[in-house]
Formats: sequence, C-alpha cells, structure tokens
Amino acid sequence: MDWLAEPMTLERQRDFGKAVATSWPSPDGSCHYGIFDAEGTVLGAIGLHDRVGPRALEIGYWCHVAHTGRGVITRAADALTRIALELPGIDHVEIHCDEANIRSAAVPRRLGYRLDRVEPREVRAPAESGRDMFWIKDRQSREV
Ligand SMILES: CC(C)(COP(=O)(O)OP(=O)(O)OC[C@H]1O[C@@H](n2cnc3c(N)ncnc32)[C@H](O)[C@@H]1OP(=O)(O)O)[C@@H](O)C(=O)NCCC(=O)NCCS
Repeated sequence: MDWLAEPMTLERQRDFGKAVATSWPSPDGSCHYGIFDAEGTVLGAIGLHDRVGPRALEIGYWCHVAHTGRGVITRAADALTRIALELPGIDHVEIHCDEANIRSAAVPRRLGYRLDRVEPREVRAPAESGRDMFWIKDRQSREV
C-alpha cells in the first residue's frame, strides 16, 4: 500500500492509535475501527472516510496477515456498509482499490457492490497496476 511507503514503526502506530482514540471522527473526517476476536486479538482494521464528496462515504480496510481468508473483512465491511447507509444524508458507499489488488476487489464484489468505473491513476506502490476500481453500493441496493 502506498501509505506504507514510510516504514510503519511502533512509534508511528502508537501515535496513530492515540490520535484516532482521542478524536472521533478524526480531523480528516474518518472513523477508524479495530477488529478483534473475543480474546482481544487484533484481526484487522476498517475505516469509514468522509472524502468522496457529498452524500457518500468510503470504506477502507486491512486484515492482519494471520487472519486472512476467514471472512473477517467481508463481514466487517458488510456491517459498516449497512451502518453507513443508515446515516442521514448518505446515499451511497464506495470502496476504491487498485485493479491488481484482487483480494481487496473480492470484498465489495462479495457484498453486492457494483463496479462503477475504472480510472487511471499514478502508480504509488510497486505492485499497483495504476488502474483504480471504484465500487459503489447505493442505499436502494443495500439488501442485495
Ligand atoms: C484486502 C484484504 C483485507 C482481503 O483479505 P481477505 O482475507 O481476502 O478478506 P476476508 O477477510 O473478507 O476473507 C475472505 C475469504 O474468507 C472466506 N470466508 C470464510 N468465511 C467467510 C464468511 N463468513 N464470509 C465471507 N467470506 C468468508 C472467503 O471465501 C474468502 O476466501 P478466499 O480468499 O479463499 O476466496 C487483505 O488482503 C489485506 O489486508 N490486504 C492489504 C491491505 C489492503 O489491500 N487493503 C485494501 C486497500 S484497497
């Protein structure tokens, strides 16, 4: 991921944790959630971001490598999509990912999002294709 271009040191992670724990939503309009199992083990993280224009929110996610392939992120994204579409003034939710990020694209596809468009974008990380997929779920289609 391009946001990992700088090494993710423990100090940076602590600073991020402190910042999001003390400001809800964070100054950039994001709500960050940790995903834990019943014993408190970190499974991943998911965020709801107010950065895709009016009447829309974006979901982003990350799964701990030890817990992929179990539906953790699909189930969390499903729950967050439903919550987002219940918020007043929100018509749709978006998930953006590089076309080469097959596992990420599988999440919105599984949840009944539609692929709205694919747009070129600068390559910001070595494995990226430079083509950004825009997946959208509308309020009307939330039960799909
Ligand atoms: C993108 C990412 C979160 C996908 O992780 P993932 O483990 O594939 O996603 P999920 O947790 O939803 O798991 C889905 C898998 O669990 C399976 N699964 C098991 N139980 C399931 C359930 N109850 N519901 C849904 N899927 C289930 C699915 O069939 C799927 O298996 P498959 O990979 O063999 O097809 C992960 O690769 C990642 O963190 N990547 C780095 C960060 C990143 O790219 N973030 C997105 C930026 S756009």
